[in-house]
Amino acid sequence: MHKFRFFLLALACLAAVSAQAQSYQLDIDLKKPGAPIQSTQYGIFFEDINYAADGGLYAELVKNRSFEFPEDPLQGWKAFGKVEVKDDGPFQRNPHYVRLSDPGHPHKWTGLDNEGFFGIGVKQGESYRFSVWARVPDGGTSTLRVELANTASMGENHYLCQETLVVNGAQWKQYEISLTPDATVAKAILRIFLVGNRTTVDLEHVSLFPKDTWMGHKNGLRKDLAQALADLHPGVFRFPGGCIVEGTDLATRYNWKNSVGPVENRPLNENRWEYTFPHRFYPDYFQSYGLGFFEFFQLSEEIGAEPLPILSCGLACQFQNEDVEAHVHLDELQPYIQDALDLIEFANGPVTSTWGKVRADMGHPEPFNLKFIGIGNEQWDSLYPEHLEPFVKAIRAAYPAMKIVGSSGPDSEGKQFDYLWPEMKRLGADLVDEHFYRNYGWFLSQGARYDNYDRKGPKVFAGEYACHATGRKWNHFFASLLEAAFMTGIERNADVVQMATYAPLFAHVEGWQWRPDLIWYDNLRSFRTVSWHVQQLYSQFRGSNTLKLTMDGANVTGADGQGGLFASAVLDGNKVYVKVVNTSGDARTIDLNFTGLKKKATLKATGGIRLSSTELYQDNSLEDPEHYTPKSFVFEGEGTTLQASIPAFSFNIFTLER
Ligand code: AHR
Repeated sequence: MHKFRFFLLALACLAAVSAQAQSYQLDIDLKKPGAPIQSTQYGIFFEDINYAADGGLYAELVKNRSFEFPEDPLQGWKAFGKVEVKDDGPFQRNPHYVRLSDPGHPHKWTGLDNEGFFGIGVKQGESYRFSVWARVPDGGTSTLRVELANTASMGENHYLCQETLVVNGAQWKQYEISLTPDATVAKAILRIFLVGNRTTVDLEHVSLFPKDTWMGHKNGLRKDLAQALADLHPGVFRFPGGCIVEGTDLATRYNWKNSVGPVENRPLNENRWEYTFPHRFYPDYFQSYGLGFFEFFQLSEEIGAEPLPILSCGLACQFQNEDVEAHVHLDELQPYIQDALDLIEFANGPVTSTWGKVRADMGHPEPFNLKFIGIGNEQWDSLYPEHLEPFVKAIRAAYPAMKIVGSSGPDSEGKQFDYLWPEMKRLGADLVDEHFYRNYGWFLSQGARYDNYDRKGPKVFAGEYACHATGRKWNHFFASLLEAAFMTGIERNADVVQMATYAPLFAHVEGWQWRPDLIWYDNLRSFRTVSWHVQQLYSQFRGSNTLKLTMDGANVTGADGQGGLFASAVLDGNKVYVKVVNTSGDARTIDLNFTGLKKKATLKATGGIRLSSTELYQDNSLEDPEHYTPKSFVFEGEGTTLQASIPAFSFNIFTLER
């Protein structure tokens, strides 16, 4: 018995030693470059969910600036003294405004507070541009005092700064002053008092922006958030969604034509994320369209990404509407098709064209050079191809070079997916949008997803994806690691998967409806998640062509016997990047074996970068934004076989030079 136990122990030790000594052989063939990797390979997906636009990327700090919130035109405002809401204002599509009059007693005050989005975040010493459209209805002048204030403070004064604004005459005009707070406050308010002789005054489109916006635009974007997009080096920028493209009903679909032209006259739209999840309900969530299609195109240009607008195909959200009457009848689809054609003209048309002129009047006479357009988001059943077909015909006829993106529905596989893919091929879609918010098991099992895809059909746009834990969903390292693992399959199949965008992009910590997300923020701070770093690393080391990488002749996809490894390799001029993801809880030794080199040629290791951790279930945070960041590691040597050890739970990029 004793002897037998000893034998077992010896056997176990031997197994452990040989497991440790096992080196996984990754063979990389450099003989000829594989498929070219498109510049659009890794991109970003923007949707106004989680207060991504108003209250997020769009730097406007005033909520309900045009007094148009439908149930209460003063939602977001606290009015005091004598304030009336009127509806015959100067902006046809935003007719409401407020009238401030003498409160009737010298010791009383008339005015308004605006609460902003979860408060107004202001920084000490920074300048904020307050603007308002105003008039004195009976002529003459009226004086306002405008303050940024901290009403939660124990200090002597609420105000952080105050300035006077004099309104002149009975004509509506825009006025502007600068406010510079003397303290940093995450939840300040904007306060407006009627002062002086308290002459009745009308106010409309009350706005407050930091002067320091992304690229200094007046109708600008929050700088830290736009910078986080630019730093991803995205190749494609999909907007404006997502489900908001479709609308809960067609009347509330995203209507791009309402999102261009002067901001004062862009009508408010509801946001379906206000009520989609009643367990996280936001009755004050609307779309001002201040961040509209012009701004989306402009941002695409500034961050070097191809714009990819997605438009309604005439189907309202199919999750929310079982009645076919909710959708446009085919014989009434023409205005929707015209919207798509007009959008292409808005983006690319000459300044002499109707919509090209709108673009030029907004400050961009040069075309935006739009190459891709998506029609429909998560649509399904025969309704979708029926609606898509006339769009395809009309776009092809007018703009033969435009690449059209169709949809494979909301699921990564199954009945609708299997039905829609051949339909997309039949209709000649150039790319098909696939969505997968899936759990660990799915991501671990999908490393080879695209290895056997139809090479003769449309290309794939992995348009929305993220790894979600089963049950509670949240951002954490392990989910991001599995995304990195899955993305080796995207990279290996760059001939067929030509775009991939994680989703959703943004979330306000106090206003989210959907997790996980790529970038989080409050009113003053933001942080980039581990998933952001995964996306960034793929973009940074995108390369120009795929390279064949195998283990025992098979792709490295986390298959049985591959030690939980996923891997891919690319060429970039004379550089080679090898990505290896270790999803297992054990360190692994790998040999990178390079073949196909010219006689006597070798490869020189130039270094490595890695994301790794054994704290699997946390992420970066506002308090600790750099808890998880990629770190360089030493990877040196020269030859055709280079050995490396990689930690458990790690995403590694090895860089080499020929
Ligand atoms: O990204 C959040 C939502 O997920 C999108 O709006 C929709 O397309 C998908 O269902």
